Amino acid sequence: MDKILVLDFGGQYNQLIARRVRAFNVFAEIKPYNKISPEEIASAGYKGVIFTGGPNSVYDKKSPHYSKDILSLGIPILGICYGHQLLAYISGGKIEPARSGSEYGKTELFADKNILFDGVPQNSTCYMSHTDYVSELPDGFKIIAHTDNCLCAAMANDKNRLYGVQFHPEVTHTEYGSQILKNFVFGVCGCKPDWKMSDFITRTTEKYKKELAGKKVLLALSGGVDSSVAAVLLHKAIGNNLYCVFVDHGLLRLHEGDYVEKTLGGKLGVNVIRVNAEEKFLGKLSGVTSPEQKRKIIGEEFIRVFESEAKKLGKIDILAQGTIYPDVIESGKGDSAVIKSHHNVGGLPDVMSFESIIEPLRDLFKDEVREVGERLGIPKELVWRQPFPGPGLAVRVIGEITKEKLELLKKADAVFREELENSQKRPSQYFAVLLDTKSVGVMGDGRTYGYTVALRAVDTHDFMTAGWSQLDYDVLERVSSRITNKIKGITRVVYDITSKPPATVEWE
Ligand code: XMP
Repeated sequence: MDKILVLDFGGQYNQLIARRVRAFNVFAEIKPYNKISPEEIASAGYKGVIFTGGPNSVYDKKSPHYSKDILSLGIPILGICYGHQLLAYISGGKIEPARSGSEYGKTELFADKNILFDGVPQNSTCYMSHTDYVSELPDGFKIIAHTDNCLCAAMANDKNRLYGVQFHPEVTHTEYGSQILKNFVFGVCGCKPDWKMSDFITRTTEKYKKELAGKKVLLALSGGVDSSVAAVLLHKAIGNNLYCVFVDHGLLRLHEGDYVEKTLGGKLGVNVIRVNAEEKFLGKLSGVTSPEQKRKIIGEEFIRVFESEAKKLGKIDILAQGTIYPDVIESGKGDSAVIKSHHNVGGLPDVMSFESIIEPLRDLFKDEVREVGERLGIPKELVWRQPFPGPGLAVRVIGEITKEKLELLKKADAVFREELENSQKRPSQYFAVLLDTKSVGVMGDGRTYGYTVALRAVDTHDFMTAGWSQLDYDVLERVSSRITNKIKGITRVVYDITSKPPATVEWE
């Protein structure tokens, strides 16, 4: 399979570059610049390398650099923004801060005739974001595009198949960005479009059929998209040698435990072992109000329950996890501040012994995982399910968790979800939160005193930032009256209008 390496110099759009290339059915993977040497690049058999953008200046001592040995590998390179300047720099060119200041935003691009611009008109729009520019070309290069403020908006050394663009072809503001990347991937690198999800399924199941023959494999099933797709994929390869342990901690949404068990275990025939551990979890959480402590307790308890189930199954050879590509990329990066200790069903092997761990989805982006899920026949409502935190409703019941509060929240959340699912607008994520404060209400002629529910709905691409959804008032009205009329114990409904940042998506 042909593949492209996206060499990461710290740009904001690096995942986007890999996704654009994959949209052409060519496999692309991202590696931090300091985690792969030119020798490793050569032996990995990449058909081309893309240097990403980044916030630095090549002359800054602390800026990320790369050995010029890469130039003699004979592998085509495309530098983008900082990557363009770095390519010029290591090839012997000169970079300077632009006298006219930085160039930022949509800019008119004048392109010359070149393989990189096949199908791109002479005048088009590109997206620029830079302060430095290439002021002297390296030997063997020529300018192939300019803008009013940037003489070298693109350069080429056709003989050695080295190209650089000062603008960002990966963002949609660059009108012909996709075409330019396509020209590089197919025209320059000569890749074949052989990265297809149908092939991925066949390849992966064939591989695991051989590798896992006669082995017992254990998977922690959360009911989320990733672990469900991993389960069905592995089931296709090894059938009942796959044991999926589904720990129902009682903190799932209304009827969710039954749904997961029925869908995967029933229709799809996956070997699901459901453990009902609500009492255990609620016992451990009793009296606990701190969000971080709740998360820790649930994470630990999860491991204990999982461990004891695994023991019952006897010797297990292999642990399978639903890790996906963004998790792999994230974990390759430096430390960022801990806002919340996210709990997933990963991180289990520390306390258990397995021959090895397999992660069948570790090369896939979320949309690719969903495509695989659909192709495997997993129902659409599971495949397109919104994210749900590992600690579940524990972080949506503010303050102490009691069975009564959990039941109220489950019902209110179900009403909100149902109303939104029947409406025009479908935000990226939506749920209810049960607050810790009670307030006074009036019903008929009597006084009521009950809990407050906050509705949360956000629109986002990546969940790193998110805007609150501008839901229709009549939808909010229906949700509010259904909740307060039908759920005894809830007297007030409020709508959360805070974006992330400064808030987070979840309340705890
Ligand atoms: P926050 O609240 O951090 O949430 O803005 C961002 C996204 O992550 C989900 N989330 C979690 N997912 N384990 C998970 O698997 C967790 O502990 C967790 N906490 C938050 C949240 O639902 C949102 O989609």
